[in-house]
Amino acid sequence: MPIKNLLTKPIETMLAQAAAAELYAAHLYQHIGNQMQFQGWFGAQKFFLAESSSERGHYQRLVDFANQRGSWLPVPAVPAIDETVGSLGDALQVAYDTEVQLGQDYEAWHEECRCPTTRQFLLSYLEEQRTSVGEISDLISRLERCGTDKGAMLTFDQELGA
Ligand SMILES: [Fe+2]
Repeated sequence: MPIKNLLTKPIETMLAQAAAAELYAAHLYQHIGNQMQFQGWFGAQKFFLAESSSERGHYQRLVDFANQRGSWLPVPAVPAIDETVGSLGDALQVAYDTEVQLGQDYEAWHEECRCPTTRQFLLSYLEEQRTSVGEISDLISRLERCGTDKGAMLTFDQELGA
């Protein structure tokens, strides 16, 4: 008996959109990591490079799910990113906005999805987004505590990379 594709077209399209968003996030965090390195925030560089590889892992989990269901996902073109990131605070804000948006996208995809197996799979992404939004919010609050104290900011950066 040949292998069946157990995914509908709309679900394949949704998974491809999610996969593209995860690869974009991987790309974006690599870019932010490079910017942080350039500004001497080496803890933040390490943090964002680790985030970048974890986003790539999220992409791969989507690919693996499609494969388990008898389908496959494309490798999308990812837009180039060349804007400068002004500060450590800006870097965290961009990450926060990105994760909130992706969380809202996953909520919408979960709501629209009628396939129980895919809905169950998407729950892990809702959890992923909830925890990363929470983590980045905490980092933004901690950074605000530093105010304009350069020493405090350097300590914060070291903690980020630990
Ligand atoms: Fe992700």
